[in-house]
Amino acid sequence: MNILKFHNDEDFIQTGANLIVSLLQSNPKAVLGLATGSSPVGVYAKLVEMHNKGLVSFSKAASYNLDEYVGLPVDHPQSYRSFMNEHLFNHVDIDLARTHVPNGNAADLDAECLAYDKMLEDNGPVDLQILGIGSNGHIGFNEPDASLNSGTHVVDLLEETLEANARFFDKLEDVPRQAVTMGIGGILKARQIVLLVRGEEKAEAVRNALEGPITTQCPASLLQSHPNVVVLLDEGAGKWL
Ligand code: GLP
Repeated sequence: MNILKFHNDEDFIQTGANLIVSLLQSNPKAVLGLATGSSPVGVYAKLVEMHNKGLVSFSKAASYNLDEYVGLPVDHPQSYRSFMNEHLFNHVDIDLARTHVPNGNAADLDAECLAYDKMLEDNGPVDLQILGIGSNGHIGFNEPDASLNSGTHVVDLLEETLEANARFFDKLEDVPRQAVTMGIGGILKARQIVLLVRGEEKAEAVRNALEGPITTQCPASLLQSHPNVVVLLDEGAGKWL
C-alpha cells in the first residue's frame, strides 16, 4: 500500500486528480470505478477544471459507480446518480450512456444486482477504483458484518450509516434504509484502488483499515489484500497512523 498524507487540500486534490488524468492520457478507454461522498468532491471538481483546460478527455471512458440508495427517485438531489451528474458527468465530455450507477428502483433488485455484475464482468475489470470509507469502516455500502458478500447486493444500512448520511437529508427518517452496493469481491477486482479520506472523524476507521487485522468487521481492512492500493489522507484522517 502506498499511503500519502497531505498537509494541504490542494495537494490532496491535485494528486487524486492526477492519478485519473494520467490513466486517461495513457488509456482513453479506461474503465473508472467511481464513488460518492464528500471526500472525492474536490477531486471531481479538479477533473472538471482540467477537462475545461483541455488536459483530459472522458469521451472514450466508461464508469461504474459503487452504490445507490434503494427507493430514492433517480432525480432526487441525494441519489448517487444525481450526485455524479452534478459533480462530474454534466461538466465533462463523458458519454452518459457509458456511465453506470446501480438502479435502486429496479422492480427486481436481485436481477439488477446480477445484471450489474455481468456488465462489470463483460466490460471490466475496472482500471482505477475510487473509494471512500465510512466511519465504521464500510466501503461502498458494505457494512461491517460476520461475513461479506462478494457480488453486488442489497444491503440494510446500519444505524450509524443512516445517522452519518442524515446530514444530506431534511431528517433522519428520510434516509433510505437500504442500498444496492457492489460487493467486496467486485471492488477488489479493480486493477488499482485509490482510497480518498478526509476528516478526523475517519481517523479510527483509517487506522483499523490500514493497520488493524483483516476482518469483515472492518470491510476496508480487506484492501490490505489488494496489490495496488494508493491511500490519500488529509491530516485529520491520517492522525492516528
Ligand atoms: C457513503 C458512501 C460510501 C462513502 C462514504 C464516505 O456512505 N456509500 O461509498 O465512502 O459515504 O463518505 P465521505 O467521503 O463523505 O466521508
